[in-house]
Amino acid sequence: MGYPHKPHPKETVLLSRYFGEADARTYKGWVKRGGYAALEQARAMEPARVVDIVKESGLRGRGGAGFPTGLKWSFMPKEKKKPHYLCVNADESEPGTFKDREIMRWTPHALLEGTAIAAHAIQAEVAYIYIRGEFTEPLAIMDKALTDARSAGVFGNLKIHLHRGAGAYICGEETALMNSIEGKRGNPRIKPPFPAAAGVFGMPTTINNVETLAAVPHILTKGAAWYKGLSLASPKSTGTKLFSVCGHVQHPANYEVTMGFPLKDLVYELCGGMRPGRTLKACIPGGSSVPILDRAETESCLLDYEGVVERGSMLGSGGVIVFDDSTDMVYQIMRLARFYAHESCAQCTQCREGTAWTTKILERILAGQGKTADLDLLLDLSENMTGKTICVLSDSCAAPVVSGIKKFRSEFEDYIAGRRKPVMVA
Ligand SMILES: Cc1cc2nc3c(=O)[nH]c(=O)nc-3n(C[C@H](O)[C@H](O)[C@H](O)COP(=O)(O)O)c2cc1C
Repeated sequence: MGYPHKPHPKETVLLSRYFGEADARTYKGWVKRGGYAALEQARAMEPARVVDIVKESGLRGRGGAGFPTGLKWSFMPKEKKKPHYLCVNADESEPGTFKDREIMRWTPHALLEGTAIAAHAIQAEVAYIYIRGEFTEPLAIMDKALTDARSAGVFGNLKIHLHRGAGAYICGEETALMNSIEGKRGNPRIKPPFPAAAGVFGMPTTINNVETLAAVPHILTKGAAWYKGLSLASPKSTGTKLFSVCGHVQHPANYEVTMGFPLKDLVYELCGGMRPGRTLKACIPGGSSVPILDRAETESCLLDYEGVVERGSMLGSGGVIVFDDSTDMVYQIMRLARFYAHESCAQCTQCREGTAWTTKILERILAGQGKTADLDLLLDLSENMTGKTICVLSDSCAAPVVSGIKKFRSEFEDYIAGRRKPVMVA
């Protein structure tokens, strides 16, 4: 299957409609496709009206937490006493997630348009687009698009800066990102104060994910009621969502579906199912930071904020990692824990020590030197890592460990009892 793939009939292509069309990247090509009309429409309205429209649409943040976007915008001070800032989170470092990259690669003007509309709504005069450092190609495409649209006078007085990250996962956390923009070490800040009160440079700030902002022009042109109508299950989850599917499926790719779409159909129909001769074992539905689903949970899960929670996990950033029956779950969980240990900013003891010890214990189990008490120790550690730190990186390490032990305990026990050959984990 080529890339980008031809949309499956069950997809609802809104943000990904022009993926693969090089002409859509150009300023002229974007305008030809109706681009920047939504910005004009928004600029003709009072900022508060734009906020209300986005509120009515039900749009929720696509960066992980699912916070209602219009409500977040409404937290910005109404009276403008200080400069207002908008930060765009294009850091996208969550393992398993690769959709913001594609939005920037194929439709850079969609993001720029959404950014300018949001800036108008929150009365910001400066917007920073913080792009993951490794995204060299998307950065070059965004840079060209920004230069062209700026020359065409699209942004008026709004200043948009592209800010390149330096490869730290933690800089995707909103307040770490703001510190990073300020030239400081990317450590998350204690909240409150929340960004709307004191964000980047201590000024009122709103931060949104790339996919969130790319959806905004559609809401303006087609209307809040239309967007709200894009919902297959829960009225609290509206619009379309890009799911980055990777792992043991036949056609890993980004798929755009309406909220509430069955995960089973995404895996078996859109992605072509498992590799020949293999069966589904487990799935992480929302990027590596969320609990693992077993086969039954995967096959009965609806992909929206409520549906995934009902199955005991979270929609997160929409990175769907699929595991077939050949997967060593203990090894996979160790690899995830190792990632978090490497990426912890080390400010909070529970995170710094917890992620490191979780990794060590999992490595010990895989090496055939685990003890029965290690499983309780891991669960105890995870409990102390959940809900106790400045940001949720620590919780993100604990989630796959706790769900993994709960659902695949016998695999851990096999290593501990010597029934499974030790694995070298260098
Ligand atoms: C450790 C960590 C990493 C994060 N990485 C990202 C990221 O790469 N991209 C992103 O949009 N949000 C990321 N987030 C979530 C942001 O803190 C924030 O919730 C999001 O940018 C808000 O935008 P939204 O409301 O449009 O979703 C991360 C959060 C944490 C705790």
